[in-house]
Amino acid sequence: MIVGIPKEIKRDEYRVAILPVGVDEFVRAGHHVLIEEGAGLGSGLTDAAYQASGAQIVAKAADVFGRADMIMKVKEPLREEWPLLRRGQTIFTYFHFAADRELTEAVLKSGATAVAYETLRDEQGRLPLLTPMSEVAGRMSIQEGAKYLERPQMGRGILLGGVPGVAPAHITILGGGIVGANAAKVAAGFGADICLLDVNMDRLRYLDDVMPANVDVLFSDRHIIREQLRLADLVIGAVLIPGAKAPRLIERADLKLMKPGSVLIDVAIDQGGCMETSRPTTHSEPTYIIDEVLHYCVTNMPGAVGRTSTYALCNVTLPWALQIAKQGIEAAAQRSKPIARAVNIMAGEVTNEPVAATFGLPYVKRFEV
Ligand SMILES: NC(=O)c1ccc[n+]([C@@H]2O[C@H](COP(=O)([O-])OP(=O)(O)OC[C@H]3O[C@@H](n4cnc5c(N)ncnc54)[C@H](O)[C@@H]3O)[C@@H](O)[C@H]2O)c1
Repeated sequence: MIVGIPKEIKRDEYRVAILPVGVDEFVRAGHHVLIEEGAGLGSGLTDAAYQASGAQIVAKAADVFGRADMIMKVKEPLREEWPLLRRGQTIFTYFHFAADRELTEAVLKSGATAVAYETLRDEQGRLPLLTPMSEVAGRMSIQEGAKYLERPQMGRGILLGGVPGVAPAHITILGGGIVGANAAKVAAGFGADICLLDVNMDRLRYLDDVMPANVDVLFSDRHIIREQLRLADLVIGAVLIPGAKAPRLIERADLKLMKPGSVLIDVAIDQGGCMETSRPTTHSEPTYIIDEVLHYCVTNMPGAVGRTSTYALCNVTLPWALQIAKQGIEAAAQRSKPIARAVNIMAGEVTNEPVAATFGLPYVKRFEV
């Protein structure tokens, strides 16, 4: 198979879909790898490193799309890339179709097969190609929170860990899943005072067992949240209800409870956000202030730490990509349910039920899922 990796063209996106070691694995398995010139530079990976592993560097995205049987990407194909997709070609990347009707229609029209990272679900119900990005965003949320609590960034002028004789910052984390647990772990290392809230009792019991002593684990309800807002220097929004918009846990009027200069980081913004005042922002303009509370709502947080994110993503995508390259998408989806669940669109038909339902399109069941 010819495997192609174009350069990502979305604004503020520094990740790339393959590492030199991935090229090595494909070449050893008998495949040919095409990489667009400079595709890895945002993550500090040079063309020379890819070449040394056996990749062929090509000048233009059109050459990659034109020749490859399987394209590996990070973000969904953008409008400029739509005309390059073609029937019989497999595209393995994040798509998030349900959020974008135009993209769905463009991929349907192209006849290409869309294999979406975000719906590849294993037998335990986990989403292994989403987890590493939640780990990155969770850990990064504390790093960003620490930065924006600094006075020159318009924060309260608080050091997360305090110093001997001065209290540390109080951090409230809404949601104790992958993002929340990773945020709590990093914040605990800083020596902050943390409350981690969730509604799932089994999850709360687990977190209570494993979290360090400076993390209190609490049941999340409206009263507790309001109580926390009075105490918090930093609030992290990390809730998720699978397949639904994020629940709205903080209303505009609640901001009045918070201290001036405190910081809200709504990681759940990619699902609409869990705060009424959240609106999507970018790495170039990540924050805004409402009622003296600083908001940070970047929808693609992992993009800023491209190198870490690239390694974390490629570690988990490569085994699946090798399987698809070895068997072809049709046979791979017949033999592997996780891969079958990832096939959202094939040859002009929607093969994922929720995507079809979202847009009122016919659902075609091609594989057992
Ligand atoms: N902005 C970004 O760049 C970025 C990156 C990665 C993930 N995310 C988003 O972060 C969010 C969290 O992701 P995750 O992987 O941690 O999900 P997850 O499913 O692992 O965890 C979500 C947690 O929220 C809890 N929850 C649900 N309702 C709640 C409520 N009312 N109060 C408190 N907790 C509640 C659930 O019980 C669960 O434990 C998602 O929306 C995800 O899309 C954003």
